[in-house]
Amino acid sequence: MTQTAWLGFSIDRNSGTPVFEQICAAIRDGAITGGLEAGRKLPATRVFATEIGVSRSTVVTAYEQLVAEGYLEAVRGSGYRICAMGEVELSRKVDPVRPEADLAPRGFPLPFEAGHPDMQLFPHRQWAKAVARVCRVAPQSMLVGGSHLGNPDLRKAIAGHVAEWRGIDASPNQVIVTAGSTDGLEVCLRTLMGAGGTVALENPGYMPLRRFVEAQGMQAAYMGIDGSGAEVPGDDCGARLAILTPSHQYPLGGAMSPNRRMEFIRWAERGDAWLIEDDYDSEFRYAGRPIPALAGFDHLNRTIYVGSFSKIFSNTLRLGYLVLPESLVTPVADTIRRFGAKASFMPQQALAEFIDKGEFYRHLRRMRRVYAERRKVLLARLAGWRDFGSCVDHLAGMQLVFHLREGIADREVEALAERKGVIARALSRYAVAGRGYNGLMLGFCAYGEDEMDKALDVLEDCLHQVAAG
Ligand SMILES: Cc1ncc(COP(=O)(O)O)c(C=O)c1O
Repeated sequence: MTQTAWLGFSIDRNSGTPVFEQICAAIRDGAITGGLEAGRKLPATRVFATEIGVSRSTVVTAYEQLVAEGYLEAVRGSGYRICAMGEVELSRKVDPVRPEADLAPRGFPLPFEAGHPDMQLFPHRQWAKAVARVCRVAPQSMLVGGSHLGNPDLRKAIAGHVAEWRGIDASPNQVIVTAGSTDGLEVCLRTLMGAGGTVALENPGYMPLRRFVEAQGMQAAYMGIDGSGAEVPGDDCGARLAILTPSHQYPLGGAMSPNRRMEFIRWAERGDAWLIEDDYDSEFRYAGRPIPALAGFDHLNRTIYVGSFSKIFSNTLRLGYLVLPESLVTPVADTIRRFGAKASFMPQQALAEFIDKGEFYRHLRRMRRVYAERRKVLLARLAGWRDFGSCVDHLAGMQLVFHLREGIADREVEALAERKGVIARALSRYAVAGRGYNGLMLGFCAYGEDEMDKALDVLEDCLHQVAAG
């Protein structure tokens, strides 16, 4: 280390920080703390460079950097001086809280965290092949952004997917790639609603959506859920947009009846309103075929379809899509242009090929088989918990709701279980206060049978404890 007489700081040649940065930091510090008072002249660059054993150009670059930052001023013919810092009182540097915990890689989810596919069964080899092929054959499709509405081949593949799986007849131009359904929903809200506008939301429902609506200064009109799905809002509630999960209500799980679908379409036509179909996990039906989408039923007249690859492929890919009525393509494209496209472009061509080559469907069919088995295991065990409550089987989705009997508070069970490493989210968290939901959300897709079995032992113990008061 070289100690400078003038600044009293040491140059540490073994540190990873360049010498130039070390000089800047020492002078900045002195100027801020007052150790180097305003107006003080700095040593001439040649003298300073010799003293600390660096090239003169290193010192000149450091001084010029500090001039640009406003810590030094260059005085013609007489070198550099410390600038006055004014009366700014700087807050002390606060040590970050638990940085190790925040930066530590997160492991796989804990049972029964809901909404997670089993990423240990991700088709690594096939996906790697698709990515490698694109790198080799069409690298420009990964590296050069292209349209902010998404990769053309992926938009085409998605149009094919929703036609076959969801009964939606749309051209690729009506498909826009998003960063998952959350982004898709936000883009729609930004396009169709201003601050102060009213949006009809399901209750119970998807909390991040509710928080976004509130944060944008929009009003929420809550729709209760009955045996046919969400209840149609009254014409006088002021909403011109309703966000629905018709294939698999989130979080309760039922499908919306055909009659109720018709009522919503009539409501939208009557009020010149829009319906947004959030179809986050509809590919997972365990009996018969997937229920056709509301958007297909409505021929994309008043319904916007929001889809996602998070559940069927990977949560971490962060890709989803919108399928839009023709009349909304330009307004939505304008919103994306204004706020910036969030979807990652790099994996889109590989995903298009993965779908076109059938790998995507092989994976989807495999996952359906695996999840169906896991669901069966969970249901069988829950059937033995009659003293605590009951479960309605909707033959779909990635989680089950176990409705607790009166006297067993879901949040108490949730807290107790979490302390023991089991995540059973309280159903009451998904409802606006006072709606009287009391149950546990149990995701089953990401957990093997043994893992579930052990976690169910823990949960059963917690239920006994809370039930005993
Ligand atoms: C009802 C509902 N909508 C949207 C999303 C968000 O999905 P994505 O990961 O595609 O943003 C979720 C995620 O769990 C969800 O449950």
